[in-house]
Amino acid sequence: MKRIFITGASSGIGLAIAKLLVAEGHEVWGTSRNLERVPKMPRCHPMRLDLTDPLSIEQAFNAALAEARYFDVLINNAGAGHFGAAEFLPVKTIASQFQILVFGQIQLMQLALRHMQARGDGLIINVSSLASRLPVPFMAAYNSAKAALAAFTMSIQLELAHSPLHIVDLQPADISTEFNERVRKTNKTDRYEARITKTWEIVERNMKKAPSPDLVARHVLKLIDAVHPPPQITVGNVFESKIAPLIFRFLPQRVRLWGLRRYYEI
Ligand SMILES: NC(=O)c1ccc[n+]([C@@H]2O[C@H](COP(=O)([O-])OP(=O)(O)OC[C@H]3O[C@@H](n4cnc5c(N)ncnc54)[C@H](OP(=O)(O)O)[C@@H]3O)[C@@H](O)[C@H]2O)c1
Repeated sequence: MKRIFITGASSGIGLAIAKLLVAEGHEVWGTSRNLERVPKMPRCHPMRLDLTDPLSIEQAFNAALAEARYFDVLINNAGAGHFGAAEFLPVKTIASQFQILVFGQIQLMQLALRHMQARGDGLIINVSSLASRLPVPFMAAYNSAKAALAAFTMSIQLELAHSPLHIVDLQPADISTEFNERVRKTNKTDRYEARITKTWEIVERNMKKAPSPDLVARHVLKLIDAVHPPPQITVGNVFESKIAPLIFRFLPQRVRLWGLRRYYEI
């Protein structure tokens, strides 16, 4: 039985992970901004945490740690997206995406690392996104924040060489959740309107036929049981998680851009 702290346990990927972990006998401290949204389950302790508020992050982690005494695993999963033309993105919106998807996650990582270093054991799983490598048009703040989280994760992996601690960058491709319904939109431009509409159609279409979040949960379970977890995994359908990233890796940037524009029909 492991003690696991997971953010965003009220919905989608985080909820699927929390359900599978408790079903497997693990003890889970799962967060939401609203405690009511975390379903009541045995061995699951709901915690209130808001990634926009550094104090809330510190208080939630420390309160959970005081209750749990130690954590074997931190899963940095919570997140939200913004959709709109990069040219008109308010700096406030970009800063908010970075607070939620980068700074909040780094704060939690540092809190967990200090504690795990003292114990000499621990696993951190950062849920970034395939969008960190294959950006979605009109999600510039989201794509770049996820890329920053992936780069930060890789930097810590370098620094943790010879350490018993492990950090995994888990990159979901499209996974069928309520993520799109919560995406905030800035749509106040004629110049990009047709392409924004087209891209959103493709994003919605992909989400509808995407695998269920249970697929991610099963991968997380394997990571938790692994003696040497891989530094990075991509989870999704075969085309998005295996074929596209492989082809993309060998293409020059000009061809990558052409391919992505074709894919999103813009
Ligand atoms: N679904 C996909 O296709 C996909 C693909 C790649 C990466 N991802 C990543 O996977 C993670 C989970 O996404 P999902 O698809 O499961 O979306 P989701 O169903 O919308 O769940 C998002 C979770 O994050 C929490 N959350 C959102 N904003 C928060 C904030 N400011 N502070 C604290 N918690 C917050 C929500 O909790 P409350 O609203 O209850 O507070 C909820 O539990 C995200 O990091 C997302 O970027 C998803």
